[in-house]
Amino acid sequence: MSDKKAQLTVDGIDGVIEMPVLSGTLGPDVVDVSSLTGKGLFTYDPGFVSTAACESKITYIDGAKGVLLHRGYPIEQLAEKSDYLETCYLLMNGELPNAEQKKQYVDSIMNHTMVHESLVNFFKGFRYDAHPMAMMCGVVGALASFYHDSLDITDPEHRKVSADRLIAKMPTLAAMCYKHSKGQPFMYPDNSLSYAENFLHMMFGTPCEPSKIDPVVAKAMDVIFLLHADHEQNASTSTVRLAGSSGANPFACISSGIAALWGPAHGGANEAVLNMLREIGDESRIGEFVKRAKDKNDPFRLMGFGHRVYKNFDPRSRVMQGIADEVLSAMGAENDPLLKIAKKLEKIALEDEYFVEKKLYPNVDFYSGIIMKAIGIPTDMFTVIFATGRTAGWIAHWNEMISNPYKIGRPRQLYTGYTARDYVPLEER
Ligand code: SDX
Repeated sequence: MSDKKAQLTVDGIDGVIEMPVLSGTLGPDVVDVSSLTGKGLFTYDPGFVSTAACESKITYIDGAKGVLLHRGYPIEQLAEKSDYLETCYLLMNGELPNAEQKKQYVDSIMNHTMVHESLVNFFKGFRYDAHPMAMMCGVVGALASFYHDSLDITDPEHRKVSADRLIAKMPTLAAMCYKHSKGQPFMYPDNSLSYAENFLHMMFGTPCEPSKIDPVVAKAMDVIFLLHADHEQNASTSTVRLAGSSGANPFACISSGIAALWGPAHGGANEAVLNMLREIGDESRIGEFVKRAKDKNDPFRLMGFGHRVYKNFDPRSRVMQGIADEVLSAMGAENDPLLKIAKKLEKIALEDEYFVEKKLYPNVDFYSGIIMKAIGIPTDMFTVIFATGRTAGWIAHWNEMISNPYKIGRPRQLYTGYTARDYVPLEER
């Protein structure tokens, strides 16, 4: 860390307040403002636009350059050369596994893919048309009720087995949500398959006939999980960290992350993109929607565009667009009307001065839904897929926090309510 300092003078407070300035290996320096409370001051930063909430070694994003590194490895290289489970190992352990470590890790994950049979009963309580994200919030949190043997968060072995269980069981639970909505029997995992193949098998296989898994689709599914694996201190990861800071068990923390991801401003955007493309319906109507997105009086925003950090391109979106072309041509759907609308919309938006001036580019959610639709995944399952991939990042950040000294997260506020006043008896109101 550097010995740089920041000096602050505040009207009404004598002298100069000196604060340490800390430097990371990459990215902006940070001003340690923790001493300000002692001076009777808080910082004020709604939405945490300028706030570094923690120190982390897992993921680095340079929004100006469109850079995304997982433990130093560029996302483009991981998407091309790695796979989802290897990336999970990297996020959790900090290094790529050697052949033996990778085999052990994959075996461990694939041996935790089944869920307790009692969990089937949880699904019986959901309406047939329950949103899959509502079901996932419930059943993932409920996992804690099955693993009393490994909820001591101070025990590294308990943290590891809980992390493995969560990464392993998310695809199983996701597929159970889908099967519940279809009224079809749940499919058990087939651990002779890869992680992505197993997910597709549990989603689209039936007891009546073996799964026919297209290798192009399986590879695309694996890369989709990988591209969603982690993304620094986004809203849902910050939620997981905050929940974990109270000492809550990892299953409860991941359930809180799922809940935070659901919103259309975050992981729910992929579902919103498809609904938007369907609403646009025809390339001739794109201009009408771009106009609405620019209208301050219209709450409509172009879903899948913009990002708090990326003010250039989102590197994941570029990889995702390549997968979209591959999958749709493999499925014979290269003329998919929604893909054509998406590509035309992207072109128009990127040439429009509003979007250029506000640095709004397609994000990870813009193309992902088109791929998932082509694979046959229903729109309301898109954010469940996002949550499945992001579980690796959530649990890696949770583990990083719990493995080191931490404090319970407890932000303060700028209070603008009433000053103290006396109770008014009912008869006097
Ligand atoms: C994800 O944080 C992460 O890393 C998230 C994520 C991850 O991997 O975890 O990357 C995943 O959540 C991607 C984002 C998915 N969301 C969407 O696609 C929803 C549409 N996008 C927006 O709602 C918005 O861009 C956000 C929420 C993504 C970012 O919002 P910010 O950073 O708070 O920016 P802002 O709302 O202050 O917008 C800045 C300006 C505003 O105009 P002014 O008030 O300055 O005049 O840009 C405008 C906004 O109105 N704007 C848009 C827009 N996004 C921002 N205008 C039209 N369409 C849009 N999509």
